[in-house]
Amino acid sequence: MSDQLEKVKELIALRAEARLGGGEKAIQKQHDKGKYTARERIAQLLDDGSFEELDMFVKHRCTNFGQEKKSFLGDGVVTGYGTIEGRLVYVFAQDFTVFGGSLSETMALKICKVMDMAMKMGAPIIGINDSGGARIQEGINALAGYAEIFQRNIMASGVIPQISGIFGPCAGGAVYSPALTDFIVMTQGPSYMFLTGPKVVKTVTGEDVTQEDLGGASVHSTKSGVAHFAAENGEEGLAIIRKLISFIPQNNLEEVPLVECNDPIDRLEDSLNEIIPDSPNKPYDMYEVIGAIIDNGEFLELQRDYAKNIIIGFARFNGQSVGVVANQPKYLAGVLDSNASRKAARFVRFCDAFNIPLVTLVDVPGFLPGTGQEYNGVILHGAKLLYAYGEATVPKVTVTLRKSYGGSHIVMSCKQLRGDMNYAWPTAEIAVMGGAGAVEVLYAKEAKDAPDPAQFMAEKEAEYTKLFANPYNAAKYGYIDDVIEPRNTRFRIIRALQQLQTKKLTNPAKKHGNIPL
Ligand code: HXC
Repeated sequence: MSDQLEKVKELIALRAEARLGGGEKAIQKQHDKGKYTARERIAQLLDDGSFEELDMFVKHRCTNFGQEKKSFLGDGVVTGYGTIEGRLVYVFAQDFTVFGGSLSETMALKICKVMDMAMKMGAPIIGINDSGGARIQEGINALAGYAEIFQRNIMASGVIPQISGIFGPCAGGAVYSPALTDFIVMTQGPSYMFLTGPKVVKTVTGEDVTQEDLGGASVHSTKSGVAHFAAENGEEGLAIIRKLISFIPQNNLEEVPLVECNDPIDRLEDSLNEIIPDSPNKPYDMYEVIGAIIDNGEFLELQRDYAKNIIIGFARFNGQSVGVVANQPKYLAGVLDSNASRKAARFVRFCDAFNIPLVTLVDVPGFLPGTGQEYNGVILHGAKLLYAYGEATVPKVTVTLRKSYGGSHIVMSCKQLRGDMNYAWPTAEIAVMGGAGAVEVLYAKEAKDAPDPAQFMAEKEAEYTKLFANPYNAAKYGYIDDVIEPRNTRFRIIRALQQLQTKKLTNPAKKHGNIPL
């Protein structure tokens, strides 16, 4: 065998060794826990055969605690690039089979390298987390590595999409890299995120709590709002990431991806002409409206089980991606509260940063009143959504289906927040407040002197409702661009979006605004 062939053989052997990560036993342990390895995950995530791995021969440099005697090719993370539906993405997947995926100095360097490449090439970065945190033997170097990653997360924010999969442990300060990214996908079961684990919680507060109850996928997708998706398992989690990528552009300078649309753009949905109940207090399901008007009913909803009074997600109109924000009358009557405002505000800002038009469907009775909300800072949280809509320069199409009252009318992408096309259904009620509340403020004193106070108030309410509980009063002033037939909503939105394709609007030059955080 020639020298060269010998060297090629050595390379092949080294590659095979690297692909085994922490070794067969560790891989088996990972499988026994119901988890895939880093390389298996990448293979499922990317188009077949598209993965190009980098830094396979990197090893840690630590000599503390006899670490020099134990090292693995590639260290605890697999990095590289590949494609999803033919589009370039950069990936890193922490390899739990190597020191529990814990972050070493060299691991951080590997991750930073692909993050830098993603920024240079203008492509999304996807990180799969499954790690015991900072590599304890490396001390401060591991911390410095995290900080390097966080700084890159911050610089990449709003420039390239950043997506985090949490497919195993993610604890301590390590949670802050995913938290800085645009989307977090968790899996039920073996994944959790928390700043301090159950043992520390017990010591400090005396509280007994399991890992799952402290930071499992259910907690973060229902209570904290940290996770955007809670997948059943790893496969589903990776499929969600692929789908997410299909809706969003590669970077902030690109237009949204356009796919072929086989759903007729002038499809009439007769059911929408009868969806609004006669009683204003009766709910209907906003999902039915969304499903009826978007391309093929295909909706990728985010934070589905968190602040269910507002719905956010990606859809397409005539093949073009949009961000949909919609009040949900079926949950808390679609009221805006702190959590709903924060949820929608972050989504609106993502869409605006990445040139994704916004379609807003309004049926909102107002902000949730009470000490619970006020003490929780609903003023600031509501202002976040107001700010997000007001600063957004992407095309904004708003359809008011029914209620749109008071401050919540303004917040939900009204005309004066630079809404481009503001439509209303004939059932829209655009006013300072609902009829019952309004007459209470205006006529409570007079009613006391009336022969039949209830009758008097009912008459006043009917008078108020006739004047304000319709879209024409707002349309009279041009605050509504047109009153449209509900069954034709899809077509009108598509027309509006087509018209807005050449929209140009820029905000004043500034270092950055000061959104009420
Ligand atoms: C070095 C680690 C490690 C770590 C795990 N390992 N975490 N090595 N540094 N942080 C090693 C284990 O020693 C073990 O090595 C292998 O990885 C697999 O771990 P197991 O414990 O066998 O796995 P499992 O039972 O599944 O438990 C997983 C775990 C547990 C819950 C994550 O390993 C654990 O509690 N790890 C420590 C977590 C932690 O406290 N990290 C530091 C947090 S501070 P062998 O050789 O036996 O296979 C932090 C600060 C970040 O992260 C700040 C950022 C700003």
